[in-house]
Amino acid sequence: MKKVIIIGASSGIGSDLAIEMSKRGYEVGIAARRLEMLQQVAGQCTGKTYIKSIDMARHDEARTKLGELIEEMGGADIIVYNAGIGESSGKWEKEHQMHEINAVGFAAIANYAFKYFRDSGREGQIVGVSSVAGTRGSRYAIGYGATKAFMWNYMEGQRHKAIAEKKNITITDIRPGFIDTPMTKGQKGMFWVVDSAYAARLIANAIEAKKKVAYIPGKWAFASFVMRLLPDFIWNRS
Ligand SMILES: NC(=O)c1ccc[n+]([C@@H]2O[C@H](COP(=O)([O-])OP(=O)(O)OC[C@H]3O[C@@H](n4cnc5c(N)ncnc54)[C@H](OP(=O)(O)O)[C@@H]3O)[C@@H](O)[C@H]2O)c1
Repeated sequence: MKKVIIIGASSGIGSDLAIEMSKRGYEVGIAARRLEMLQQVAGQCTGKTYIKSIDMARHDEARTKLGELIEEMGGADIIVYNAGIGESSGKWEKEHQMHEINAVGFAAIANYAFKYFRDSGREGQIVGVSSVAGTRGSRYAIGYGATKAFMWNYMEGQRHKAIAEKKNITITDIRPGFIDTPMTKGQKGMFWVVDSAYAARLIANAIEAKKKVAYIPGKWAFASFVMRLLPDFIWNRS
């Protein structure tokens, strides 16, 4: 039976992904800070689940705890980094915290996961939930977009390395558009919004298909492509 670990699985996309993967027959390891929420998610999973309290602001400790979780599960085949916060107030302390979770936290886990799969010689998959927001710098979410662009680039680098070293490690970059979750509650100006259970099904499909990159839902690939093509004088007025 395949084993998947999801970090950031206490609410929204991560909790629905845990439930979806469990429904598909995976053993699921779920991690985040809020233990009661994780217990509720485990209650909705159909198969075997493992719970770990991990705070991604504490990077070294988080890596140690990921190692413990892998051990408790008897190995892992897929490691998903979904933890993230959205912050656009422009206040440095909050923005800094977001960088620590979304970007440095992701690197701490992706780096650990790569080494784990490489050293154990097992086939593996690293999945990062980034965002369409990584496409271009935007005044609406300066720091947030930058953390997601960091993830895009980091995952491309890991894929490059896995191929060069002939390692059977798949790197899957999940790029959601607007998803209805606690993070986006009350957020104005959203469009093409989908619910997180539906998004989780699309993400699970992309993971099982071992996609390199998947926009959720797929029409965001077109939007991202157009955003990249727009000349600065138009983008800067949007
Ligand atoms: N919703 C959208 O429209 C959208 C669009 C594009 C990308 N995304 C990305 O999708 C991911 C999930 O977001 P969501 O919308 O589902 O939001 P959410 O419901 O707020 O979920 C965020 C998850 O991240 C975890 N997390 C936050 N800080 C953490 C920390 N310090 N340590 C460990 N876990 C932490 C939370 O767990 P605890 O609080 O329990 O620790 C929670 O499980 C994020 O990376 C987000 O950037 C979302």
